Amino acid sequence: MRIVLFTGKGGVGKTTTASATALRLADRGLKTLLLSTDVAHSLADALDVTLSDEPTEIAPSLWAVQIDTQGRFEAAWRDVQAFLVDMLARGGVDPITADELTVLPGVDEVLALLAVRDLAVTGNWDALVVDCAPTAETLRLLALPEALTWYLQRVFPAQRRIAKGMRPIASLLGRGDAIPPDSLFDALLRLNNELAAVRELLGDPTVTSVRLVLTPEAVVAAEARRTFTALALYGYSVDLVVANRVFPAGDDEWRQGWARAQQTQLAAIRESFAGLPVTELPYRAAEPIGAAALREVAASLYGELPGADPAPVGAGPALLSVDADGPNFVLRMALPLAERASVDAARAGDDLVVSVGANRRVLSLPSVLRRCIVDGGEFDGRELRVRFRPDPDLWPAGVTPRPRPRPGPRGRPEGAGDDDA
Ligand SMILES: Nc1ncnc2c1ncn2[C@@H]1O[C@H](COP(=O)(O)OP(=O)(O)OP(=O)(O)O)[C@@H](O)[C@H]1O
Ligand SMILES: [Mg+2]
Repeated sequence: MRIVLFTGKGGVGKTTTASATALRLADRGLKTLLLSTDVAHSLADALDVTLSDEPTEIAPSLWAVQIDTQGRFEAAWRDVQAFLVDMLARGGVDPITADELTVLPGVDEVLALLAVRDLAVTGNWDALVVDCAPTAETLRLLALPEALTWYLQRVFPAQRRIAKGMRPIASLLGRGDAIPPDSLFDALLRLNNELAAVRELLGDPTVTSVRLVLTPEAVVAAEARRTFTALALYGYSVDLVVANRVFPAGDDEWRQGWARAQQTQLAAIRESFAGLPVTELPYRAAEPIGAAALREVAASLYGELPGADPAPVGAGPALLSVDADGPNFVLRMALPLAERASVDAARAGDDLVVSVGANRRVLSLPSVLRRCIVDGGEFDGRELRVRFRPDPDLWPAGVTPRPRPRPGPRGRPEGAGDDDA
């Protein structure tokens, strides 16, 4: 099973390229599901079909679905929301406002993400093609599972213990309703497990790859570069850049001007994304709407049928590894295109906090590294290396640890004796 995500700045052609890719996969005989994490639901418009929240067959081997996040919200969050509304109402907030306040921003996208995983594990599909929301939301979305899991695993057990201890006292005082009920904790735990599973699936480069769609313009390309870095930081592997709306050559001055400017941008894009394939898509004479036009887009992307495999497995590079270096260890994290001054890493207890500009990842260290002392680190413009030295107080004399040099299932490295699965 393969999952391919399409992201990029608003309006660059994510829905178009995702739909064309899904059609190509289906035309090559793979049972394919196309879905969107974007609440705007433009898939139906691009494909010129009617969609619902149940997968609908829209071409041989191709299904598409419009996720009903509202319905999912009701099912998954009823307990959590009821509690929050109640709390706010008791705090004097008018119940209608409270209801609105508890519809968290971004919750639609989280639920769409959970739906991706639910659909993936049904075993019904050979390929899932996901048309994502514009970049900023997608990044927020993709950073979320790990961040929330981190929070829930650390803060939450303590809170639950406190709540359990408080409940008898609170009920004696007639305030039992002020303590979060067990059903709230259960709902959050369920969410935690589901998000961890999403993270495992989307962070596994043998299953999931991300494609960056851009147009050859300086502003769009600059955002794509930052996205590429942030995706690497969060452990999502990019395997293709699509440069869309490339002007074909022409004789009039206006067109020549645009074509020249685009060629300059394309050269810069190829140089900066070195190592990644960059596929150009011509600016078509009309909007590519409907299966016939989208099949032509697919031919530009992947060649005439059968063409290249539109979703080769594990095409992206490994982003994170831990290697032994004599008695010590080196954690390597690929951070392509990151500016040196924006990269920072700091140990915080059992975690390594890595940030690139405003994006930050809290990486749970494998147990082998938890028992080490950070011995320095450097960023060479492409790769962050953090060196670890065994903490003599935590290693029995004579035992030399050996990490397994492959990334863990959640995009974090595993080490020998990893005991926190
Ligand atoms: N190569 C192309 N030639 C001509 N028109 C195109 C091309 N690619 C996309 N379009 C058109 O450009 C518009 C935007 O494309 P699309 O909806 O795929 O972008 P998007 O990135 O999904 O946008 P949004 O961020 O709003 O979701 C659509 O009208 C689409 O038909
Ligand atoms: Mg779109």
